[in-house]
Amino acid sequence: MLAGKKIILGVSGSIAAYKSALIVRGLVRAGAEVKVLMTQAAADFITPLTLSTLSRNPVTSSVHTDESWNNHVELGLWADAYLIAPATATTLAKLAHGICDSALVAVYLSARCPVFFAPAMDVDMWRHPATRTNVERLQSFGNHLIDVEEGELASGLTGAGRLAEPEHILQHLADYFAEAANRTSLQDLAGRRVLITAGPTHEDLDPVRYLGNRSTGKMGIALAEAAAARGARVELILGPTSLTTTQAGVTVVPVRSAREMYAEAVDRWPESTDAILCAAVADYRPATVAPEKIKKGDGELTVAMVRNPDIAAELGRGKRPGQRVVGFALETENGLENARRKLIDKSLDFIVLNSPRTPGAGFGHDTNQITLVDRNKVTPFELKTKRAVADDILDRLADNPTP
Ligand code: C5P
Repeated sequence: MLAGKKIILGVSGSIAAYKSALIVRGLVRAGAEVKVLMTQAAADFITPLTLSTLSRNPVTSSVHTDESWNNHVELGLWADAYLIAPATATTLAKLAHGICDSALVAVYLSARCPVFFAPAMDVDMWRHPATRTNVERLQSFGNHLIDVEEGELASGLTGAGRLAEPEHILQHLADYFAEAANRTSLQDLAGRRVLITAGPTHEDLDPVRYLGNRSTGKMGIALAEAAAARGARVELILGPTSLTTTQAGVTVVPVRSAREMYAEAVDRWPESTDAILCAAVADYRPATVAPEKIKKGDGELTVAMVRNPDIAAELGRGKRPGQRVVGFALETENGLENARRKLIDKSLDFIVLNSPRTPGAGFGHDTNQITLVDRNKVTPFELKTKRAVADDILDRLADNPTP
């Protein structure tokens, strides 16, 4: 799976840096092209000459030398994957906070490819809340952790903190590329017409003000792109957000309010096979929209609100045999109980439960942590990128026979 892949290896200054030689050799033997970046500290543990000889490419350590500037943007775009191994506590902190004092961090900030990081440090450093927070932060940006292993450490202590064995790191990368290749060739949603609602809604109060929420539409856009990649024709009814998609197979229908979203969804539902209702729809709207900007007065302002139509309930009610409706539930308490109730009340086929309290999950993040709930089972998933979460949801949808 690694043949022909372009890999950047970032090496930071840990005693485990010597293992980077084995990683480079393994990657090259598997047919990958490797370019190595080292921090200054890494050069105290392994020489650039060793790594340039094994990788058959020059090794870079600073953003510039006396004579030239290294184009980190170009390198970041060149790679199919960026592996940082070993990643020390300091390097994790710099990556998590964008402290760009080496080529290793500069390329990380410019890279568009998936990033994998394999930490290595002493057991107490690994357990420290500062490290824990930095690891979680990096995962919440969508980077992949290659977890430490347990055993004897350079300090003489025994515990978690060892760099994953080079062969485990190589296997991790190979598995990632195998899964990605699988996904690309998968056309299990061919012939399906999938309606997706996404983003927030804006409910006008007067000509300049509205009530809205913090949804960005990222999860729904990821679902639309993943479904189209798997062969579906997608109509994405998207509330007001700065994000969108230009992916082939996805028609974007921009809307503003809950009622506009409802009208577009209901109109398209008879022609659709599936609906995934991901939008954070306002439950209420102001009873009237003031024709002029509301002026401030001395006292309090009370705004009367009325219920918005429920798109999920309406589509669930009008379901033909074979049509599937998937809902989302963002719950701050009693998640499972509320999800089950919505499943029944709105006649949904399954519900995607996520909690805004999980670090890295929910509005605005690139990652999400979900639990799929249907009438018979509850399936929790780990924190993943929204694209990977989208594929987990679509796997469940594709499990059902095509109508
Ligand atoms: O009842 P609650 O708003 O928590 O239900 C969430 C689910 O219902 C989500 O799938 C959401 O997109 C959908 N919904 C809807 N129309 C509404 C309110 C929620 O489609 N007016």
